Parts: sequence; C-alpha cells; structure tokens
Amino acid sequence: MSKVREHWGSRMGFILAAAGSAIGLGNLWKFPYITWHNNGGAFVLVYLICILVVGLPIMMAEILIGRRAQKSAVPAFEEIGHKRWSWIGIVGVLAGFVILGYYSVIAGWSITTFLDCIGWSLNGYTPPPDGAFGAFVSDGSTQLGLSAIFSVATLGVVWFGISGGIEKVTKFLMPTLFLILIYFVISSFSMSGFSDAMAFLFEPNFSELPATGILEALGHAFFTLSLGMGLMITYGSYLTKDMSVTRVSAMVVIMDTVVALLACVIMFTIIYSTPGLSEQIGKSTVGMLFVTLPNLFYSGAMPGGTILGPLFYLLVAFAALTSTISLLEVMVSYFIDARGWTRAKSSLVCASGTFVNTIFCALSLGAVGLLSSFTWVSGKSGVLDHLDYLASNWMLPIGGFGIALFAGWVLDKKVSIEELGMVDSSGAPNMQYKIWRIFIRFVAPVAIAAVIIAVMLGKDFS
Ligand code: PFF
Repeated sequence: MSKVREHWGSRMGFILAAAGSAIGLGNLWKFPYITWHNNGGAFVLVYLICILVVGLPIMMAEILIGRRAQKSAVPAFEEIGHKRWSWIGIVGVLAGFVILGYYSVIAGWSITTFLDCIGWSLNGYTPPPDGAFGAFVSDGSTQLGLSAIFSVATLGVVWFGISGGIEKVTKFLMPTLFLILIYFVISSFSMSGFSDAMAFLFEPNFSELPATGILEALGHAFFTLSLGMGLMITYGSYLTKDMSVTRVSAMVVIMDTVVALLACVIMFTIIYSTPGLSEQIGKSTVGMLFVTLPNLFYSGAMPGGTILGPLFYLLVAFAALTSTISLLEVMVSYFIDARGWTRAKSSLVCASGTFVNTIFCALSLGAVGLLSSFTWVSGKSGVLDHLDYLASNWMLPIGGFGIALFAGWVLDKKVSIEELGMVDSSGAPNMQYKIWRIFIRFVAPVAIAAVIIAVMLGKDFS
C-alpha cells in the first residue's frame, strides 16, 4: 500500500523551516569570526557573490530535485535519475550524522550561557575567572548533559513529522528569532562602535583579502545554506506543486544572508564600542560568541545589556535547534523512504545512533585524553575538530559538486524547466533559466572543484 506523502501546510511553513535549517551557528558563530579573520569588507563582498552564483543555483537545484522526486535525498536520485547517482544522497545522510554529532555539543553551550546570563542579570555580574571556558568544555558530564538536552529536544520535534512537528515549531521559533535580532540591531544604532562596524563590514579593500578568502567564503556558503547534503532535497520533497521553487529558494537565501550580516553588525558594533577589545579578540574563534560577548553585555557598553544578554543566547539556542531538527530529518526521512520504517522507529534509531557520535564529540574537548588530543590532520585535535574538518572540507563540497553535475548534466532539461517554471509566453525557456543553467553546469562545478583541490593541497576551511 503506498502511503500519501506528508506536505508542508503552507508556503510560509516551508520557507521558515528551510530558513530555520540554514540559519544557525553558521550565521551567529562561524560567519562573524571568519569575517573578522578575513578583514571584513572585501571578504563580505566575495561571500555575497559566492552566495549568488553558487549558493542560490544549488539551492534551486536541490529543491527542484526533491519536489520532482517527492522522495528524500538517496531515493530521489534513483527516482528521477539513476541508481548510480544515489551516492550523492548517501554522502548527505552521512554528513547529517557527522554534523549533528558535534553541532549538538556546541549548541548545548548556548543553554549554559543563557542560564549564566539570567543569573548575572538577576544577581549582578561576576566575571568568570581566566580559563573558565576551558574548564567548562573539558567537563565531560556537563558537556554530555547539555548535548543530551539538545538531542532530546531535536528528537521531540522530528518525531511529530513535517506539519505536526517541524513546521509548527519553526513557525514559532523563526519569527521570535527575527524579532530578537531586530531589537538588537536597533540597540546597536546608538552605540559608539556602530559606524566603525559598518565601515569594517561594507567598505571593501581588496588588498586586505587573504588569498584563500574566496575559497573560504565558498566553503562557508555550503555550510550556512545547509547545501551539499541533500537537506534541501528532503525539505523540497514535502513541497507541493503550487509553490514556486525559485521564489522559495530566493527567500531562504536572502533570509540566511541578512541574518549573517546582522549578526556581524551586532557583534562588531559591540566589539568596536569597547576600547581595546578589537585587539584582544585575537584568534579565539569559539571565544567570540561564548566568552567575549557575555562579558560585554554587562560591561555597560551596550544599553539594556541585562535584558539583551539572556535574550541573545535564547536566540542562539533557537537558531541551533531549527538546524539540528533539519539535520536529524535528513537521516530520518531516508530510513522512512528507502527502508519503509515508521517515523517513530526512524526518529528513535537515528537520534540514538547520532547520540553515540555526540558522546564522543562531547568528551573530546578535554574530558577524555584519548578522544581529545589525537591529530590525524595537521592543526586539528580530537574527535569534534576532525569531524568538523571532514564535513566542511570534504563532505559538503563533494555533495554539492555531485548535485551540480546531476542537475546540470544528467537531469532531463525538460524536468528542470518545468519545476523551475522559467518559461516565456511561448513556453520556451526564458533568460533566467539560461542563466541558472550556465551557473549550475559550469560556474558551480568549477568553483567547487577549486575548493576540493585546495583542500587536497592542504588548505582547511573548517
Ligand atoms: N546551516 C546551518 C548553520 O549555518 O548553522 C548548519 C547546517 C544545518 C548544515 C543543516 C547542514 C544542514 F543540513
């Protein structure tokens, strides 16, 4: 008996869920620090170009593949292509397992920072002693407890399915997140560092762009838009025929980019408003979000910091949760579609399996020496670090490369024209379609190949 496939209840429901997947730690944590280390302006411009010429075309390709096949990542390639292309989906499902394992650990930090901020807002601020963050991440039971809370919350949502779980939760969380973010941006207007932050971000100076900046921007485009692992194929498979693939793709890409830029505006404004801080940021990548910012909310540099502090970490937790939900859904939908499991069984098995991975990651930040200190790839140490390297440098670019090849060279042209609905009045493919096709056939594969070659030559974009 064939089951009727679940669908999103509304176009907005899909857009918010897909944007929820895209907007996460990548926007609030990773983008600000890579922008900082790549000296702002020129890097931001290059990043925007990468989003437009590679990110958007691949987002459209993934959603159109999913919508056409009405199947999740692995079986989608079999349905509308050939079994030999299903490896792309398999890379995606594995990437979901790898990323969710460590993402839940970092996401857990937002819970502690949120609770710390509530305490500071109520009882007054006491600066954490030097080394407190190091002690926190290497405390195994705390890391396990926090990531377990996140994993259970993620399972709780995915268990209830598309319109009953994911759509309902993201429809509430995403608008709340946008409101909190707007409140922050408005607060930053009146701070002394606002104009310096804007100049740093939006005045490009190409002599300050490091040589690998372009490839780093491209690599990040995949992570931040949740591309290259079949997630958008999976979410697209729950899309009804009356929704425009192009329009929803554009909305998701715009929302993700705006949030990433706003996160930078907020963080850099706070940093530039605090004398001496920009020199101190140094290379502490983790520190910027979880160590530096909490101090600043209570330093008096930010008006209303005692309210904004807890709110900010609530926002980080929301953003991370809507991403972990999507990471789990990629795996869950595979076992439902390809193996015929029920949603309940698939959710439980996938969440438990991934939690084993999470345990290794949670204990690899100092708690267990064996898991924390080994080095296979130079510059990386421990399980979490290596998994991030594997996913960001290899899995997502390889998956993205496969998707671009499939959509541009294998998929019947008629199918993409029909799904994208890009025809002129006579029914022939219009200009937008021709541009998309050039990007997906040539620009995206060449650009991604450059990232993969750079990684082979030893570069690290994680
Ligand atoms: N896009 C998410 C972020 O920027 O934090 C991370 C992510 C979520 C990557 C879901 C891939 C994915 F399938």
